[in-house]
Amino acid sequence: MKRVLVFDSGVGGLSVLDAIASADMALELDFLADAAWLPYGLKADADVAARVPELIAAVAAEWRPDLVVIACNTASTIALAGTRAALPHTPVVGVVPPIKPAAAATQTGTFAILATPATIRRPYTLDLIAQFAADKNVIRVGSSVLVEAGERKLRGLPVDKAAVAAVIDEMFQAPGGERIDVVALSCTHFPLLLEELTVAAPQPCLWVDSGEAIARRVRALLDPQAGRAVARRAGFTTAAAARDLHGAFAARGFAEFVSISADAPFVTTPLP
Ligand code: DGL
Repeated sequence: MKRVLVFDSGVGGLSVLDAIASADMALELDFLADAAWLPYGLKADADVAARVPELIAAVAAEWRPDLVVIACNTASTIALAGTRAALPHTPVVGVVPPIKPAAAATQTGTFAILATPATIRRPYTLDLIAQFAADKNVIRVGSSVLVEAGERKLRGLPVDKAAVAAVIDEMFQAPGGERIDVVALSCTHFPLLLEELTVAAPQPCLWVDSGEAIARRVRALLDPQAGRAVARRAGFTTAAAARDLHGAFAARGFAEFVSISADAPFVTTPLP
């Protein structure tokens, strides 16, 4: 069975993993979360660009994936080329803010992009807007609060509804915000909060994410047999994350948990 390694700073990659797992592909799925460095959205671009290829390459050397998914917009928009260079023999797929489908779906001509503070200002994102949404009113909102909310939710902790509402208010109260009918969820943590976001929004919207597009890309590159995906191994750069997230990962079938040192040389240690 072909093996896919899904990478994110935290649990956001699970929204992508879930999309891959429900796409009728017989695959083995591993997950790597850089919990020690979360949130990437508040880190310097150069630091993320340097760290991500090194961490993924170190773990991939042991886990031997057939394909790597960088299931993190914040990492993909800055570290995709570096990761491909570090893994010359393994295809690396990145997550791109779903600006093209959002621009195609809006009926009012106004849509929002919800991302981390880093992704929202990246040239990569601005280029996508120029390319696919030049004739639209695009409202951009950057939030790390929602990343934290997603992390809490998957740990079984209460989500701060007021904090979610404040982000939603910022979006819909921006000039022209009352016309928003589509939201491009451009951080993989955010689909995990779909319920909370929908409840907080003042009007019905189409919430677009990248999960299914990534699953299609995995299919195109690996051509796996039809069947069930099997979760295998989850690694975290803090032992605390491995412990606190055990439930969320065990529920998805992960059976092996690994602690990885927070800094290079990224030594991996199996957890009991
Ligand atoms: N899940 C990540 C993304 O898609 C970012 C979370 C973070 O800021 O670390 O952008």
